[in-house]
This record gives sequence, structure tokens and C-alpha cells, in this order.
Amino acid sequence: MIVAIDGPAGAGKSTVARTLADRLGFRYLDTGAMYRALTWLALKRGLPLGEGTSLGTLARERPVTFDEADRVFIDGADVTAAIRQARVDRLVSVVARHPEVREVMRERQRELAAGGDVVIEGRDIGTVVAPGAEVKVYLEADPTVRARRRQAERPDIGPDALATDLKLRDERDRARMQPAADAQRIDTTNLGVDDVVTRIEALVRARAALA
Ligand code: CDP
Repeated sequence: MIVAIDGPAGAGKSTVARTLADRLGFRYLDTGAMYRALTWLALKRGLPLGEGTSLGTLARERPVTFDEADRVFIDGADVTAAIRQARVDRLVSVVARHPEVREVMRERQRELAAGGDVVIEGRDIGTVVAPGAEVKVYLEADPTVRARRRQAERPDIGPDALATDLKLRDERDRARMQPAADAQRIDTTNLGVDDVVTRIEALVRARAALA
């Protein structure tokens, strides 16, 4: 079974998706980490981020991989921590908007998701990567709450800068951030991680009972 979890930054996707995958014994795939890793590599190599063709080629030649502990690797480097830097936060959506990059990433995401049960989180999972996913969830939350949650993960960035970064990224991501028509929307503004996970788990169990 595929469980697709989409939504904007700070809506709780990663924590919810990881916890859910643990509880269900499903694999977990973080597609955002793949775009982040490519961005990290492009910055390291000094590639212009406006050039979709060369970024697409780089994505194909240097595939992102994960180990069993969900550490992230690209071009022989463990980038698990580095891809959460503010610099990557700010530039990832510039890299991710190139169709050449998305084509390579989506193909790879489908390969990684194939075979077995998996929770996949991203922006376009329920709409494009896995439109046939058995369970689709779109998490949303009030922008102020999203900024506050992100602040806890990025203590070295000031709250104003962080809110601006988030807003800019939302704008850049908007075209890819539409919920699938058949996604269950969950507003997490006033919900804890456990509540959200329990709701999605119920959807998964209901769906499994139908199969
Ligand atoms: O956790 P957060 O929402 O901050 O970001 P993420 O899920 O790590 O994704 C980082 C960026 O990658 C997003 O802002 C999008 O620009 C891009 N992305 C995408 O375009 N498509 C996906 N399926 C996942 C991420």
C-alpha cells in the first residue's frame, strides 16, 4: 500500500510520516530530502541554479540514496544534516521547479516506492508521483503555527527571517502544492503529532480492511 502525505513546510509532514511509518511497519520516503540533496550538490559545485538542463543531468548522474536509518547520501557524501541548513531551505524550491529535475526525481521516487508498503511525503505525491496511492492525506496549518514549528527546528534563524523564508517558499511551491481531489485534508493547527498519526492510521486500516 502507498500512503501519500503532501502539504506545505511546517504542516507536520515529516514527523507525522515518520511516526506513521514506524507504527505501521511501512518504509518511509522523504522526497523533499531528494530535492534538498540535489540543491546541496549544485551549490557545492557552484552550478547556476537557473539552468534546468544541467541540473537535470546532475540529478540523473548523481542519484540520491538513503540507508536503513534514513540517512541521505549524494555523490558519496552523507548530507543528512547539511540539507537542513537555511541556505538549502532558501534555494531548494528554485532547483525543484525545473521540469528536467522533477522528471528525474519522480522516476526515481517511483522506483524507490515500488514493491511493498510505504509512506511517501512531499508536495506532488498524491497528484503526480503516486496518483493511485490507496491513502492520500494533505496536511495544512495556519502560517503562524507553521513558522513557529519551523523555528523550533532552526533555532539560529530569527523568527522574522524564518517567516519570510517560509512565505517565499510557499509562493514558489504553490503550483505543485495543490491537494489531490481525493486527498483527505487535515488541518494540524491545533492537533498534536499523535492525533494526526492516529487519524491517518485509521484511514489506512479502513482501506486495508476493504482490500
Ligand atoms: O520539510 P519542508 O516542507 O520544509 O520541506 P521538504 O519537504 O524537505 O521540501 C523541500 C522543498 O523541496 C519544497 O519546498 C519544494 O520546493 C521541494 N519539493 C518538491 O518540489 N516536491 C516534492 N515532492 C518534495 C519537495
